[in-house]
Amino acid sequence: MTIREELLSLLICPETGAALSGWDGVSAQGTLKTDDGRSYPVTDGIPNLLPDALRGGPADDTEVAEKRSEMEARDAQVKSYDQMLGLKLFTYYEVPLTLKALPLESSHLMLEGGCGTGRMTRTFAERVRGLLCVDFSRESLRVAKAKLPTALAEKVLFIQADLSRLPARSEVFDRVGSFGVYEHIPTPEARAGALKHLARACKMGEQGGRLALSAYRWGPPISWMSQQEGHHPGGIYFIRFTQAELKAQCGSHFTVQGATEALLYYHLIWGQKQHHG
Ligand SMILES: C[S@@+](CC[C@H](N)C(=O)[O-])C[C@H]1O[C@@H](n2cnc3c(N)ncnc32)[C@H](O)[C@@H]1O
Repeated sequence: MTIREELLSLLICPETGAALSGWDGVSAQGTLKTDDGRSYPVTDGIPNLLPDALRGGPADDTEVAEKRSEMEARDAQVKSYDQMLGLKLFTYYEVPLTLKALPLESSHLMLEGGCGTGRMTRTFAERVRGLLCVDFSRESLRVAKAKLPTALAEKVLFIQADLSRLPARSEVFDRVGSFGVYEHIPTPEARAGALKHLARACKMGEQGGRLALSAYRWGPPISWMSQQEGHHPGGIYFIRFTQAELKAQCGSHFTVQGATEALLYYHLIWGQKQHHG
């Protein structure tokens, strides 16, 4: 089995958790199907495994409306995101800290939750055996995918999906990381859902499973010049957390082993899963 076939075998239906089949993991176009008749299109080699609520129809609650707003904004902002000079410089500082919090080995299967335009994806892909990259912005996924050289692209599968309804099997990833994403998930319930799913997909701590996550930090000097909760241009929701808040929220879904505020703007928090869920 190739690594892409292995990654493909880890995908499930976001609505029912049923197995998916019908696409080879390589062809640009295709369809993933469940035995009970659900189907999910694949375009440009990227399956659309969004839950029904984000695929169309009325946006009848805050979570769906905010998520659709961010999906549109992220799709529209891929170029400007990649041109942010401050973010490029920050990456040089952030990546070594992230790799310390989430050490990667060549035997690992990894999940990157909210890969965006792939700012950190290549770093991860170079170090692990296989990588599943999830984001709900199709344009971001297309850009991230196009950035990978062929040799790395073979061991990475990109899927369009919602982290609060993560369509991946339980306890299969050695490493789960999500960076700069959690603060954009618009309600406490949706954030708890995303953490629950990220932890669910991770192997148990005694099997070596580890998670790391970064999210906006609330506290001086940020709190002197910004709001704790609001919207970025284009309609992207955000909320900033104190370390105690983030530790408590992550602590409900995995055992926190460390956290740093060295990134000032972001918390970086890491740990392992110690109970099935
Ligand atoms: C600030 S960007 C960070 C991207 C990348 N991790 C990085 O550090 O450059 C946030 C990303 O999270 C994605 N995102 C936000 N909420 C999501 C959700 N519920 N499910 C999947 N992706 C989500 C957005 O589409 C966007 O690409």
